[in-house]
Amino acid sequence: RHFMPKDGVLRYLDLMAAHKLNVLHLHLTDDQGWRIEIRRYPKLTETGSWRSRTKFGHRASPLWEDKPHGGYYTQDDIREIVAYAAERHITVVPEIDVPGHSQAAIAAYPELGNTDVIDTTALSVWDTWGINSNVLAPTDNTLRFYEGVFEEVLEMFPSRFIHIGGDECPKDQWQKSSAAQERIAELGLADEDQLQSWFVRHFDTWLAARGRRLIGWDEILQGGLAPGAAVSSWRGFEGGVTAARAGRDVVMCPEQHVYLDHRQAPGDDEPVPIGFVRTLEDVYRFEPVPAALTEAEARHVLGTQANVWTEALEDAGRVDYQAFPRLAAFAEVAWSRLPAPADRDFARFERRMAAHYRRLDALGVAYR
Ligand code: ACM
Repeated sequence: RHFMPKDGVLRYLDLMAAHKLNVLHLHLTDDQGWRIEIRRYPKLTETGSWRSRTKFGHRASPLWEDKPHGGYYTQDDIREIVAYAAERHITVVPEIDVPGHSQAAIAAYPELGNTDVIDTTALSVWDTWGINSNVLAPTDNTLRFYEGVFEEVLEMFPSRFIHIGGDECPKDQWQKSSAAQERIAELGLADEDQLQSWFVRHFDTWLAARGRRLIGWDEILQGGLAPGAAVSSWRGFEGGVTAARAGRDVVMCPEQHVYLDHRQAPGDDEPVPIGFVRTLEDVYRFEPVPAALTEAEARHVLGTQANVWTEALEDAGRVDYQAFPRLAAFAEVAWSRLPAPADRDFARFERRMAAHYRRLDALGVAYR
């Protein structure tokens, strides 16, 4: 949502390698911007990568800046990022978020939206934050369009997993759309949740036929999980537990614990005091594998992920402040024996951090 230019991504790959983090999940599309060149659909970036103004801060006291915000990665940029990552043993997993979080794409190609509900030609790239009702229309045209997007994405990203988003897709336009309702009837589906599930399944099958695997946010469990899909459990542990018990693979990234854009202390002193308070110690004590899972179920937890959304982080310094030092604690958690010993020793970790802060200083990290 605030674009991080290529040099910032390369720098983060160096920081990740220094902490032995081996997967970068790149969220490339959202209501507020489309950030990857797709050659057959040039308007995705010509129109979709810029918004007319931007917002700083959080909901209670936003500041507007009345100048355009945007940017995108060319296909050459992406190839450079992927190669730079591979040299550091890091896999880059791209996310193209569907069918929600798609207003930037609809602003570029209005026929992708629910044209029988609203005038999608009047939409622009969204300039504020939140959950957006302007979602993709569940039409054959939309499926073909995104197959075209994914064809180019697969050429750029060799990763086994391809993330299709799937989060926060309000269903109000589908409820009002006669085209969507006809599709529900024609497919014999129960409701709009099953319609989303049908949409996700389409890409599950499509990706599997090309030797890849679909991963999506835990909303893809609603309406029935596609057969090969893996789940990023973000709204808590529950989605991941459900998926693991069903024999499905999971990446644990619950927002209550490891959303690093969220505040690091209570009170109003944090630059943008949003979300759950999670201190360095809290992150150090995070346990990605719920004790309720059996050993066999727990094997479906492929790993854990810390998310850093950038609507409140307008530049690299703000990203550093939110990510560090907590990302160092997270890396240790990710590579610890699981389940963690009951006495995961924070005092020892803090003593080791004294040396690590000097490394972060030398690397120019603007940590908290
Ligand atoms: C998410 O944070 N909406 C996945």
